[in-house]
Amino acid sequence: MSVDILAAGPESSELLAALHAKAFDGGEVWNGAAFATLLAGPGMDALLAARGGTPLGFILMRTIADEAEMLTLAVLPSARRAGAGRALVKVGLEAARRRGAASAFLEVSVTNVAAIALYRSTGWGEAGHRARYYRDGSDALIMSCRL
Ligand SMILES: CC(C)(COP(=O)(O)OP(=O)(O)OC[C@H]1O[C@@H](n2cnc3c(N)ncnc32)[C@H](O)[C@@H]1OP(=O)(O)O)[C@@H](O)C(=O)NCCC(=O)NCCS
Repeated sequence: MSVDILAAGPESSELLAALHAKAFDGGEVWNGAAFATLLAGPGMDALLAARGGTPLGFILMRTIADEAEMLTLAVLPSARRAGAGRALVKVGLEAARRRGAASAFLEVSVTNVAAIALYRSTGWGEAGHRARYYRDGSDALIMSCRL
């Protein structure tokens, strides 16, 4: 069964928080209120991946003027390596491009081998580093992509 990508609004805040907590096990917690505040802001695109009506993950993009930021991307551990992450990145970039973004950037831990491989395979390149950016002391890799 293929993955469907659907737009998600503020009514999905609790669902996004639950997916985020499961995907980032032990990481930074973004609760439903945090998602509701983010989704109410300008330039936001939240997209949900689902298979047969069951949510698998989501992506959050924010576009300001001609630049988009990927704020987060999460796929449930049980649904990984089946193309949901790649589909979310592609549709997320397309949504930002429609809003007028000419480029996009993101931050990812240098230790996040899976996400970096996904980004490299979807057109992102390395644009910089932020030393000891994350709570675990790891550096952030800044990646960018032309749309
Ligand atoms: C990163 C993440 C979103 C990938 O989601 P996914 O649905 O498994 O990704 P896909 O199945 O679309 O994988 C696409 C490509 O990414 C790469 N990739 C994905 N997982 C990988 C892994 N564990 N190791 C190496 N490469 C990996 C591969 O190139 C893969 O293509 P392939 O399966 O044809 O080899 C998922 O692992 C996740 O939610 N991780 C925890 C949260 C997170 O780190 N988010 C990103 C924060 S910046």
